[in-house]
Amino acid sequence: MDAMQENLGLVAEETLDPPDWADVQALSHRVIDDAVDYLRDVRDRPVWREMPADVREAFAAPLPRSPAPLAAVYGEVSRTVMSYPMGNTHPRFWSWYMGSSNFTGALGDFLAAIQGSNLGGGNHAAGLMDSQVVNWCKQMLGFPASAGGTLVSGGSMANIIGLTVARNVKAGIDVREHGVAAIEKPLRFYGSEQLHSCHRKAMEALGLGNRALRRIPTDSGLRIDIAALRAAITEDRAAGFKPACVIGTAGTVNTGAIDDLQALAKLAHEEGLWFHVDGCIGALIAIAPENAHRVAGIERADSVALDPHKWLHAPFEVGCALVRDAAAHRGTFAVTPEYLESTPRGLASGEWLHDYGLQTSRGFRALKVWMALKEHGVEKFGRLIDQNIAQAVYLAGLIEAAPQLQLAASPTVNIVCFRYQPGLTGEALKALNTEIMLRLQEQGIAALSDTTVHGEHWLRVAITNHRTRREDLDLLVRETVRLGREIAAEGAVSS
Ligand SMILES: Cc1ncc(COP(=O)(O)O)c(C=O)c1O
Repeated sequence: MDAMQENLGLVAEETLDPPDWADVQALSHRVIDDAVDYLRDVRDRPVWREMPADVREAFAAPLPRSPAPLAAVYGEVSRTVMSYPMGNTHPRFWSWYMGSSNFTGALGDFLAAIQGSNLGGGNHAAGLMDSQVVNWCKQMLGFPASAGGTLVSGGSMANIIGLTVARNVKAGIDVREHGVAAIEKPLRFYGSEQLHSCHRKAMEALGLGNRALRRIPTDSGLRIDIAALRAAITEDRAAGFKPACVIGTAGTVNTGAIDDLQALAKLAHEEGLWFHVDGCIGALIAIAPENAHRVAGIERADSVALDPHKWLHAPFEVGCALVRDAAAHRGTFAVTPEYLESTPRGLASGEWLHDYGLQTSRGFRALKVWMALKEHGVEKFGRLIDQNIAQAVYLAGLIEAAPQLQLAASPTVNIVCFRYQPGLTGEALKALNTEIMLRLQEQGIAALSDTTVHGEHWLRVAITNHRTRREDLDLLVRETVRLGREIAAEGAVSS
């Protein structure tokens, strides 16, 4: 406090900025050095490991009331958070379905936070970049430049955006004003029984209810049965429902099956339905030269959900919703309160990006996607998708060549379902394979997940990973067989 402030009895003002920027600079250099080492050496660490009690306890510590040096805070983060990751940046992480991140994207997230813009909208560079990345997503999928779109937190939100526009366009009334209770005939949405669970959440959140989503049986390849879909639509119309939307899946979460998008586009057109594609897994196959044909027809959708935090490997979170009819998209969400009116010039003269979704404040998700695309070019991302699909074929070949292993089906894209089969059935077989999966995780060898396909339990490998090499898949097969034998010998499970 200077003398004048003291004379006036003024209290010194506080800030979160450091008293000495040089200290922060030195520490930041260390953080960056550590971060580079962390990703460079990821292959040498276990995929996953259980947290010891003292690490767990650290997260029960009470609200800090007094300050601590930033170096000590960083030290604690290194010891706890950084040392016990989920593991999805590791080359042998193949659980559920997620990307493996990338260093440039992480720098993008850092710079986005430093620059600090709120992407609710406004006239600033980050806003233009947000729109540019949406435009790039349109180009990747062959969507028209005139389409609408928005970056959201992930695939689930991207699906909700598309389905909300579908509901409002097909409701036959002004749903925004009058609500779903005023819809004359109950709306029906359709998708295969392999639909991701986020669609159920969407139906519930949209006030339509889970039953408004009719699950259509699938064929032997787990693709939606088009004849069954057509029959269901006819049946529903006769029963007084209003068929509103068909959801095609480009890459199901269980097996990667891709619905016949061309046939769905045709059917939706003939029946007057909205055509939404859940492309969270597979939409980006459109940029993969050897496999793009598998998602042909996606460009005909009314709306698509895609997930740059999967096959573009952007650090979490970023999803993208595209809507062919930009006016319908904006018309579903735009609200202009008096405190967010546009001005002819200045900061409020840019587009209000919050008019395309449910959030008002929005993070600068675009930068991490933009930087990685600029650095590598889209063709490399396409090649990496082809590479993962080829690796899935390679793994399927290894499984078929191992007499102890059983393959559920030839992979469509990058998901391989298999199991260790020593001649067991039912629950005993499931228990044995679950134990293999858990030991693979606990021994830090590989992270797989499991699922049920055609009523049977399978281990599931989803290769959405730019660090995976064929030798990792060789190791997986070797270790699965070793653990299978070990567990069977222990008699831990019985037939
Ligand atoms: C087919 C499909 N749809 C939607 C989602 C949900 O995406 P997110 O986890 O990004 O919300 C997933 C997630 O894996 C998915 O596989």
